[in-house]
Amino acid sequence: MFDLMIKGVSLTDGREEFDVACKDGKIVEIAKSILGDSKETIHAEGCLLSPPFIDPHFHMDATLSLGTPRLNVSGTLLEGISLWGELKPLQSIDDIISRAVKYCDLAVAKGIGAIRSHVDTCDDELKGVQALLEVREKVKGYLDLQLVAFPQDGVFRDPTALENTKRALDMGVDVVGGIPHFERTMSEGARSVKLLCEIAAERGLMVDMHCDESDDPMSRHVETLAFETKRLGLEGRVAGSHLTSMHSMDNYYVSKLIPLMAESQINVIPNPLINIMLQGRHDTYPKRRGQTRVRELRDAGLTVGFGSDCVMDPWYSLGKADMLDVAFMALHVGQLSSREDMGWCFDAVTKNSAKIIGLEEYGIEKGKPANFVLLQAKDKIEAIRLRAHRLLVVRDGLIISRSDPVKYTLHKPEGDIDFNEIN
Ligand code: FE2
Repeated sequence: MFDLMIKGVSLTDGREEFDVACKDGKIVEIAKSILGDSKETIHAEGCLLSPPFIDPHFHMDATLSLGTPRLNVSGTLLEGISLWGELKPLQSIDDIISRAVKYCDLAVAKGIGAIRSHVDTCDDELKGVQALLEVREKVKGYLDLQLVAFPQDGVFRDPTALENTKRALDMGVDVVGGIPHFERTMSEGARSVKLLCEIAAERGLMVDMHCDESDDPMSRHVETLAFETKRLGLEGRVAGSHLTSMHSMDNYYVSKLIPLMAESQINVIPNPLINIMLQGRHDTYPKRRGQTRVRELRDAGLTVGFGSDCVMDPWYSLGKADMLDVAFMALHVGQLSSREDMGWCFDAVTKNSAKIIGLEEYGIEKGKPANFVLLQAKDKIEAIRLRAHRLLVVRDGLIISRSDPVKYTLHKPEGDIDFNEIN
């Protein structure tokens, strides 16, 4: 007797009309027409069963704070950072916990199974760190939350940031972050990359740096990040988030840079919703898109995973924990329009991001944990086109979120017609 059976689904590798059977929290069989009884059977013919969405870049200490204490008028990254500086002393640990848990609930209902969240360490009380460590514990039964120690105001620019970042790591924050383009000079930025990578190497941790989130083509800290990664033997464990200056860099320089990044196996995390909103704000026309060179980085063999970055916070007023919105935007901005490229954009919010954050036992395979999301779409491209409705979310074999299929009834003179977007 199985615990749960999902019948007639398409899988993300292109297989169609398969059944997936689960028992004791694991996937025990994937085949056409599985025989045998199940405590619960879901008939999902024509729908797509995907491993959970993974968000490799988020700011959970700031989420759902929109309008507190005021809105970002200029829409720039820098006003967002100063607005966040105004909010930080006003919020309590309980405020952060309550917003973060609310966001986690929404994220899980939207099929997200893991989030890597940066947490600001530029605060002598480390309120965000205390709050998110507690949230990580609270949600662990249904969501994997990985935390990055992020010195938002600059590890050198803020006088106590270095000490507080180390304290956050001592308290159990998982990954070392940084923001070299926000340090006072280019050389201070490069020095911050070196120091933070050394801290990660000493402690055996991964690195994920906000790197060159700027339209300045001379913001080249990713070069130092790749160099330090190689020097310290951190290959495959380091991510560069944003990397927007690469959009504006000289092509000749990039022809040297990308092979250096490939040699160091730097993981790449663009955040398309946020950067299409924030970048190019100093341009008149043409306005630069500011998305990093996704196609070229992917084609050089680097792992690319798209992050959502912000939802309703000082930097971005919109968002709804929907990784298909993220993929949809990345696809458009990067002109990733071939069938292969569109399918790959789905991978960038699922398996690529799982690999970047080091998630183990990920994927719909026999013997792995029964973690998946059922989408009202027939394949990966349709899932992005529709930002498909999430019918079921399953974690360790248990249905943790469920919703009815979307259906429209059109009242026409000749009679009612029922339809949804996939029939
Ligand atoms: Fe970010």
